[in-house]
Amino acid sequence: MDREKLKSLTENSVIDKLYVEEEVTSTNDVAKSMSREGFKGRALIVSELQTKGRGRLGRNWSSPAGTGIWMSLLDTDTENLVNIPGITLLAGLAVAEALNSLSGEECARIKWPNDVVINGKKVCGILTELISSGTESTVIIGIGINASMDEFPEELKDKATSVFLEIGQKPEREKIITGVVTKLTEYISAYKITGSLGFAMDRYHSLMVNKGKEVILSSANGDFYDNPYIATGIDEEGNLLVEDKSGTVHTVQSGEISVRGVLGYV
Ligand code: BTN
Repeated sequence: MDREKLKSLTENSVIDKLYVEEEVTSTNDVAKSMSREGFKGRALIVSELQTKGRGRLGRNWSSPAGTGIWMSLLDTDTENLVNIPGITLLAGLAVAEALNSLSGEECARIKWPNDVVINGKKVCGILTELISSGTESTVIIGIGINASMDEFPEELKDKATSVFLEIGQKPEREKIITGVVTKLTEYISAYKITGSLGFAMDRYHSLMVNKGKEVILSSANGDFYDNPYIATGIDEEGNLLVEDKSGTVHTVQSGEISVRGVLGYV
C-alpha cells in the first residue's frame, strides 16, 4: 500500500489521522484500542494483512496480504448518530458507488443490508461496531473489499469474488480507498444533520440487488419465518421492508437476521 497515494485524505481533512500498517490482527481491533486510549476525531486504519479478520455473526474474514482492502474508519463524534445500522447501509452504498465509478458501469450492487456484490457474488463485507464508555461512544466501520484475488478456495468460490475477477482490471487499491472514504464521510455528515437515510434512499434503492426479489429470512436462534417474502425496499432507518404472501408488509432490522435469495446467496 502506497501511503503517499492516500495523503489527500488527511490533506483535504476527510479524516484527521491515517494509519497504514503491514500486519494487524483486525483493523477494527486497532480502532477499538485507539478509542480506548482516548483518540478523538476521525481516523482511518488500513492494513496489508489481517491475522484475525472478523466478519458479521462471529465469522472469520479471510484477509490475505496484498490483494484486498482491509480498513476501518473510526469516528468519535457520534452525538448526532441516531442509528448505527443506518451507517452500515451508507458504507455499502459508498463502496458500491466507488466501485462503479472505477469500472464506469453500474455492476456493483448492494445486498441488504450491506454486502456489496458483483454479478451475484460478494466482493465486500462490512462490520460496524459501536463501543461505549460512560456517556461517550465511538463508531467503527470495518470494510473488507476483495480487490485483486485471482481465485478463491473451493468453499467460497460460488459466493465470493474480487473486483479483478469481475471487472477485469487489477484496481489501484488507494484509489478505491480514497473514493470510498470520501463518499462515506460525506454521507455520515449528512446523516448526522438529517437523522434519516432519506437523502440516500433513491440511490440505495437503485443499487439494491434484492429489491423486488423473493428472499428467505433466517436468524441464528432459529426463529420461524413465513418464507419466502418479497423485499420491497428499505425505510428511512435502514430496515428492510418485506411483503408476505398475504401482502402484509413487515419491517426487518439488520443485526441477527440473514437474508438470502430463493435460489442462493442473492
Ligand atoms: C462480513 O461478514 O461480511 C463483514 C466483513 C468485514 C471485514 C472487514 S476487513 C476490515 C475490518 N476488520 C475486520 O476484522 N473486519 C472488517
